[in-house]
Amino acid sequence: MASKRSRWDTGDETEDLDDRQRSATPAKRPKKLAEPSTPAPAPSTNPVSAVRTRSIYVPPRTAHPGLASSRSVYSYERLNQIEEGSYGVVFRARDKVTGDIVALKKLKLEEEKHGFPITALREINALMACRHENVVHIREVVVGDTLTQVYIVMDFIEHDLKSLLTVMPTPFLQSEIKTLMLQLLSAVAHCHSNWILHRDLKTSNLLMNNRGTIKVADFGLARRYGDPVGVGGLTQLVVTLWYRAPEILLGATEYSTAVDMWSVGCIFGELILNEPIFQAKGELELIAMIFKLLGPPTKVNWPEYTSLPLAKTLSLPHYTPPAFRQRFPYLTAAGIDLISSLMEYDPAKRITAEEALKHPYFTEAPMPKHKDLFGSFPSLAAGEKRRKPFDSPSAPERVADYKLLTDFDPV
Ligand SMILES: Nc1ncnc2c1ncn2[C@@H]1O[C@H](COP(=O)(O)OP(=O)(O)OP(=O)(O)O)[C@@H](O)[C@H]1O
Ligand SMILES: [Mg+2]
Repeated sequence: MASKRSRWDTGDETEDLDDRQRSATPAKRPKKLAEPSTPAPAPSTNPVSAVRTRSIYVPPRTAHPGLASSRSVYSYERLNQIEEGSYGVVFRARDKVTGDIVALKKLKLEEEKHGFPITALREINALMACRHENVVHIREVVVGDTLTQVYIVMDFIEHDLKSLLTVMPTPFLQSEIKTLMLQLLSAVAHCHSNWILHRDLKTSNLLMNNRGTIKVADFGLARRYGDPVGVGGLTQLVVTLWYRAPEILLGATEYSTAVDMWSVGCIFGELILNEPIFQAKGELELIAMIFKLLGPPTKVNWPEYTSLPLAKTLSLPHYTPPAFRQRFPYLTAAGIDLISSLMEYDPAKRITAEEALKHPYFTEAPMPKHKDLFGSFPSLAAGEKRRKPFDSPSAPERVADYKLLTDFDPV
């Protein structure tokens, strides 16, 4: 079925009425919505009031004072489209009442024939269950012209790390990587302590504002763990390929928080090298790349390897030692220890987010940079233009930072 766009998505601020309402009110044509210059909504009993703050499809509640009905997407003025991902389109918008700039993610519900999809419920649920300084703040859920138009309203964050890495004139410093990793680990620890697996951690799902704060976003694949798992186990169709843990690649149907920690390891490596560490075209190539970096799995480093469904279909290469030092030549010994602990084959031995937060890498020089000292960058999502590279303020510091690094790590 072709994807139906609402009038709001296309920038037409006129509210649409579905056939149900048209036939119910044949004499009255819906009034066109004038875009108000002032936010004050005129009180009206007409469902198509000048600024409608409540969806006409959600009846007002009287018996449950703790619950409020969803507002309409027309409470927001659409500014620009930020991105179209696999699970939704993301827009930048302005709250007509408060003037706040927000991001609206329109959930893809059009092809749904069996009611409100569980994935959308999980995304909303997980975002609400994981409120944290380093998790993108969900403000509300609003609805559009029909019940298939549902939007998650979040704080607008200027950058995602993937886009930022491509426009930054120079890679992040070690001191900056530490600050980013500490924030990421603290968000992941919080999600895990609330029984939520993210299952799609990657740089494009990490947002960063111009004050050096990271926000984990896109809980579209998140789910609760710890509940009894149904027949067939957990789906293996999770986590974007380059960030996918080896146990999922090898067909494990039971997995847990360690899958997110593997992805955190991939993100750590990407921040250091300024490019994704496993740029594989398919699963077999990815497995070969992992074997090359970690050395092939053995009875010692991964006793359960042979019992995994797809292990029998692979022939293991000859043993080679781990190659982290060659791949990350400028990383300190503590840094190498952290990345290899995040990239342990055996999920049971892989470091947890809580443990990683206390890793010595974060307390050795160079120390994590204070968030206030992070440079700011033009926001592609807000349609800002890139400054010329020579405007970059952080170039001279870099030499000092790397010198410190090599001072502490003579290898
Ligand atoms: N709160 C926000 N503020 C600013 N930009 C955002 C926000 N949320 C998402 N984005 C932008 O939109 C992109 C897509 O959002 P998100 O990852 O939630 O959607 P998705 O459909 O699940 O995407 P994908 O399948 O590509 O991961 C993000 O990578 C980011 O660039
Ligand atoms: Mg995403």
